[in-house]
Amino acid sequence: MTTNSETISNPLGDDLQIGELLKRMTLAEKVSLLSGQDRWHTATLERHGIPSIVMTDGPHGVRANEDGRIKGRATSFPTGVSMASCWDLELVEEVGAALAEETRALGCNVLLGPCVNIVRHPLAGRNFESYSEDPYLAGRTGVVYVRGLQSRGIGASLKHFACNNQETERRRGDSQVDERTLREIYLAQFEMVVKEAQPWTVMCSYNRVNGEYSSQNDRLLNQILRAEWGFDGIVVSDWGANHTTIESVQGGLDLEMPGPARWYGDLLIEAIATWQIDEEAIDRAVRRILRLVRACTGQQQSESTDGILPEGAVNISAHQLLARRLAQESIVLLKNDGNILPLREEDNHSLAIIGPMAGVGSIGGGGSSFLEPPYRVSPLDGLKTRLGDRVAIHYEPGCSSSTYQRSPQNGIAQAVELAHQCEAALVFVGLPEGHESEGYDRQDMELTGAQNELVREVLKANPRTVVIVYAGSPVALPWVGEAPAILLAHYPGQEGGHAVADVLLGNVNPSGKLSVTWPKRLQDTPAYANFPGGRAVRYGEGIFVGYRYYDYKDIEPLFAFGHGLSYTQFTYTDLQLPTKAKIGDQVTVTLNITNSGNVTGKEIIQAYVRDVDSSLVRPVKELKGFAKVELAPGETKIVSISLNQRSFAFYDPQRGDWIVEPGIFELLIGSSSRDIRASAKIELTL
Ligand code: GLC
Repeated sequence: MTTNSETISNPLGDDLQIGELLKRMTLAEKVSLLSGQDRWHTATLERHGIPSIVMTDGPHGVRANEDGRIKGRATSFPTGVSMASCWDLELVEEVGAALAEETRALGCNVLLGPCVNIVRHPLAGRNFESYSEDPYLAGRTGVVYVRGLQSRGIGASLKHFACNNQETERRRGDSQVDERTLREIYLAQFEMVVKEAQPWTVMCSYNRVNGEYSSQNDRLLNQILRAEWGFDGIVVSDWGANHTTIESVQGGLDLEMPGPARWYGDLLIEAIATWQIDEEAIDRAVRRILRLVRACTGQQQSESTDGILPEGAVNISAHQLLARRLAQESIVLLKNDGNILPLREEDNHSLAIIGPMAGVGSIGGGGSSFLEPPYRVSPLDGLKTRLGDRVAIHYEPGCSSSTYQRSPQNGIAQAVELAHQCEAALVFVGLPEGHESEGYDRQDMELTGAQNELVREVLKANPRTVVIVYAGSPVALPWVGEAPAILLAHYPGQEGGHAVADVLLGNVNPSGKLSVTWPKRLQDTPAYANFPGGRAVRYGEGIFVGYRYYDYKDIEPLFAFGHGLSYTQFTYTDLQLPTKAKIGDQVTVTLNITNSGNVTGKEIIQAYVRDVDSSLVRPVKELKGFAKVELAPGETKIVSISLNQRSFAFYDPQRGDWIVEPGIFELLIGSSSRDIRASAKIELTL
C-alpha cells in the first residue's frame, strides 16, 4: 500500500480517483473517516485534500447549531405531519428545495431528514415529526422531500431505519415485527424513497429490530437496504446509536455519529490489526463516505445551475411565504356545522379570541427537530393583521396550556364573559411545545391544563364558537359534540398565525386532510395492548395499523384517515376503470371532479384498493394513489390516478416476495377513507 503523501489533483473526481486515493491512505486515515470529527462534522483529511462535511437537523428547519433553542435565523416550517396532511407533493418538494438553500446558507451539507417512521400509536413522542399511519402517503411525501432537498446539492438522511415508532426505551427497545408487517407497513415507505429518490444517507435507528440493533443489523442494512433495494449511499448511525465495532462494520454501518470515535477509531484499528475484520470491509465504507463528500462538496464548487442562490438563503420572504402556504394547505377543517366558517367580517363586528394558543400557537414539538425561528406569528397576530380595526378583537387567555403553570385568576370566567359580549368566539387550544417530543411518549391524549373546561364554558356562552387545535398527534376532544366548528392547525411553524387567520376568515379555503386517524378513545387504537411495551415491543396488531385496523374491526373513529372538509363541495362522477387487466400492466383510473359549491377549493381524491378474495388476510382497503386538484365554482376536471403492480400486491413471507394474486379487486375512490364516493371492480389475470 503506497502512502505517497502527494495528493491526487482531484481526489474525489470519480470512483477511479477514489480507488487511487484509498491506496494512498493509511489505515488510521481510513478509519478516521468512519466516525464523526465532532458532533456534526465528518473527519477532514488535509494530507489528501478531503474536507469534512457538516450534518445538521432537520427535518422542518435548519438548526445548524448545537442547541436549536438559540434564536436562529432559519425558517421554521410546519412539521412532518403537516407535510403529509397537505397531500400536495409539488409543495413538499418546493419546501425540500427551500430547506436545502437554508442548509447551504448555514454552511451545512446534509439535513437530517425526512423522518418517515409510521405513526403506530397516537402517544408516540415523534408523531409530529413523522408523516402518517399509511406507508404509501409517508413514502410519497418522503420521495418528494428528498428530491427537493437533493436537487439543490444538499444530502438527505432518511430516518430512522427502522421501526422507531415510540420513544419509550428507544435506545435499547426491541421492535418485534413479523416479516409481512415489516415489509408492508414499516419498510415500504423507506423502500419507496430509496428506490425513487436515492437519498445520500440513511440514518439507522437506535432500537433493535427482531433482536438486533439497527446499527448492526446485517439483514436490514446489507441484505434489504443495499442488496435488495440497491441503496448506494451511506448508513449513518443515529447519534449514539452504535454499540459495537466488528458487528457494526460487518452489519453495514458506515459512519458512527457523533464524533469523536466511540466504537470505531482505535478499536476498529485493533480489530483489523488482529484480523478480526478484513480491511476491505473498511474500504467499502470509506468509498461510500468519500462519494458522499464528493456529492456534497462537488455541487458547491460548480456554478449554481437551476437559479438557486449560490450561497443559499435563510428566512427570505420566499421561504416565509412557502412556510405560510404549507401551513395553509395542511390545516384540516374537522367540523363545520351550519357553515359557521369562514367568519365574514360583515357578520362579526367583535371577536373574542380566547385560549392559551391564541397568544403563542405552538410551532413544533420537542427534541432535535425543534427550531427557535427568527420570529413567530401567533393566531392573535394573524387575525389583527388581517382584520385591522374593521373588527374589534378582544383577547383572554382563559387558562394556561401548561400542566405546571397556574392559570390566570378567574381566567375562565373572564373568557366566558368576553364570549358573551362578542358576536363570535375563537378558542385556541392545544399542546404546549415539548409536550410531544423526541425522548418520551405522551401518557394520555388529553389536552393539558384546564383547556377542556375552558372550551366547554365558552361553548355554553356563545353558540358561534370555533375551536382551533394545535397538536401534532390526535388529542381527546370531549366537547366535540358541542363544538359546531373545529380546525386542526397541527404545528404550523413560524407563519402559522397568518395561515390560521387566512383559513378562519376565508382568504384560504382549507384543503388539508388527516394523515393519521383520530380515535374516539385510546382503547380503540390498534396498538393499545402493546404500547409502549417494555424493552420488547410486540407489534401485535400486525399490518392492521391506523385505518387498516378501524376498518377491519369496524370501529368508528372520531375523524377518519383522509378526512378534511372544505368551504365548498365536490361531486365525483364518471369513474372509468378497465374491467380487466393483466397482472403487471399499469392500470389507470379516471373520474370527473366538479366543484358544486360557490367558492374555489381544492379536493384530495384518494384511491383505495380492496383485494376481494386473497389467500392471506388483507386490510379492507389500502391507499394506493391520490391527487389534489383546485377547482373554481362549477368547474369540472378529469382526474387520473395510475396504479402499478405493487398497488395490488401483498408481501408473502412464505415466498419472500410481493405477490399479486389473480382475481377481482375493487377500486374505492374517496374524499376520505370513510367517505367513498365511487367504486368499480377490475379483474386481474395472469
Ligand atoms: C437524535 C435523533 C435524530 C437526530 C440526531 C441528531 O437523537 O433521533 O433524529 O437527527 O439525534 O440530533
